[in-house]
Amino acid sequence: MIFFVGLVLLQVCGIIEGASIPAVRCPHPCVSVEQCPEANEVVMKSESRRTAAETNMLRRVFCGFQDDQVKVCCEMLKTFKHRNLALLPQHCGFIDKNRIEGGQGANINEFPWMALISIRMKDGNIAFACGGTVISDRYVLTAAHCVQTMKGAPRAVVGVRVGEHDLSGPYDCQGGVDNAPLVCAEAVQDFGYEEIKVHENYTNDGKIWRHDIALIRLKKKVNFEPKNAKPICLPTSLEQQTRDLDFLTATIPGWGQTETMLESNVLMKADILVHPRDDCALFYEAKNVPTRFRTSTSTFICAGVIGKDSCRRDSGGPLMVPGTHSGFNRYIQYGIVSFGPSECGGDRPSLYTDVVMHMPWILDHLRP
Ligand SMILES: *[C@@H]1O[C@H](CO)[C@@H](O)[C@H](O)[C@H]1NC(C)=O
Repeated sequence: MIFFVGLVLLQVCGIIEGASIPAVRCPHPCVSVEQCPEANEVVMKSESRRTAAETNMLRRVFCGFQDDQVKVCCEMLKTFKHRNLALLPQHCGFIDKNRIEGGQGANINEFPWMALISIRMKDGNIAFACGGTVISDRYVLTAAHCVQTMKGAPRAVVGVRVGEHDLSGPYDCQGGVDNAPLVCAEAVQDFGYEEIKVHENYTNDGKIWRHDIALIRLKKKVNFEPKNAKPICLPTSLEQQTRDLDFLTATIPGWGQTETMLESNVLMKADILVHPRDDCALFYEAKNVPTRFRTSTSTFICAGVIGKDSCRRDSGGPLMVPGTHSGFNRYIQYGIVSFGPSECGGDRPSLYTDVVMHMPWILDHLRP
């Protein structure tokens, strides 16, 4: 959406000038500048005292007008200045240059932030029933439905494993034939947890379904020395948060069932396309998908292609899009595998918890 600006106030302030400025998609309330101290402070400065960076910042969070009032996506500014931002590592989301484009199996150490969550099932057996991502040396990000039942009771989480590649054996190696170097993964790291925080407004009652996000605080710090244990980047900068993901290719690694309906022991990956939310809603409506999925699309990222959908057992895993982080091209986690209305490999796109929308919540709940 483009707003044509002819507003005296803005031009006087020198913030929004020229023919047009795109309004950003704001996953939070879009509020008037006056209700946003972080923005108002800059608007109130005289033009000569305002830096180019400050003007740029205001333009990035501009989300529309109400009457003659400029509105801004204030939460994005708060995230960008959040007191806990330093708890998220700068060295994150490293992209393996030797990765196989379009391949199905992941390389060893290609996605070292992948975590497996072990849960005691009803039959007493313990299974790696969900995925998650290492976002700092102490926290794993996952979906709320991985750690809580539909009725709101906690699920019996046993622990978290980091650094896994092939579940079938203790020694994970690749290569060693045809001049390919032999690469073996280092030992996995297993953790107990200290605390599980589920989003206060997580709802999955058959009608509404939203805020499918949770944080697991590990009992010990993850050792980031081995190559198979590193953190993923989250969208923290304004640039990353205001990015339009529509029609971009996202990567979803996971151990979940593949298109052949078999569970995989080896970490797999798939590239899928992000769809505009409105397209997704229309698609669901046309396919007569239950209402809770249709009405939820605006708060989720919608992505998928025929035959490459993420399956339920991938729940809690990441949807990642490469982007600039601290000046480098890195994987940034934009989504959490939440729920798909179809079985594996169906033609319906799946919904992913919107990480940008939940950045304030994530940051609020981190502790050193
Ligand atoms: C949960 O919902 C209530 C009511 O809409 C809201 O006031 C509160 O801020 C929400 N909590 C979070 C963490 O978003």
